Amino acid sequence: MHLKSTIQALSTLLLLQTTTAAPASDIASRSSTDMIEARGECTWGFICGVIKNDPKSNRSLQVTNDWPKRDSGAWKWIGIGGSSTAVMKDADGFYVPSGCRATSVDDVLVWDAGKWHKINDLQEYTVKIIC
Ligand SMILES: *[C@@H]1O[C@H](CO)[C@@H](O)[C@H](O)[C@H]1NC(C)=O
Repeated sequence: MHLKSTIQALSTLLLLQTTTAAPASDIASRSSTDMIEARGECTWGFICGVIKNDPKSNRSLQVTNDWPKRDSGAWKWIGIGGSSTAVMKDADGFYVPSGCRATSVDDVLVWDAGKWHKINDLQEYTVKIIC
């Protein structure tokens, strides 16, 4: 329990550093945590990638728990205001259809349309998607 909260605090710190230091375009290619992340699993069993669909979005968000394959069997949908934790333990990425605008809640990060975007286990993102 104590170890878990310590590691979660550490993850939050890493997340803050990642989000402030990295331009949006850098996130998809980031691979620093790939070494500790067993594909499709949570790091150390309990640090998992989490994707949330902002309440201000106006459509569902498509997520996958199988990177890099991303085949349709691993797709799930998160409703407006929902979280990937309801449909999968460890979210690995999300899709922004062309014609949509996907941003962080504060509008600082913008994720390209027509592409999948990878997140890692130390990240929790809330995506605002307007189509
Ligand atoms: C979402 O919001 C945008 C901007 O207000 C609007 O143009 C679009 O039609 C909306 N889409 C849906 C699915 O409601």
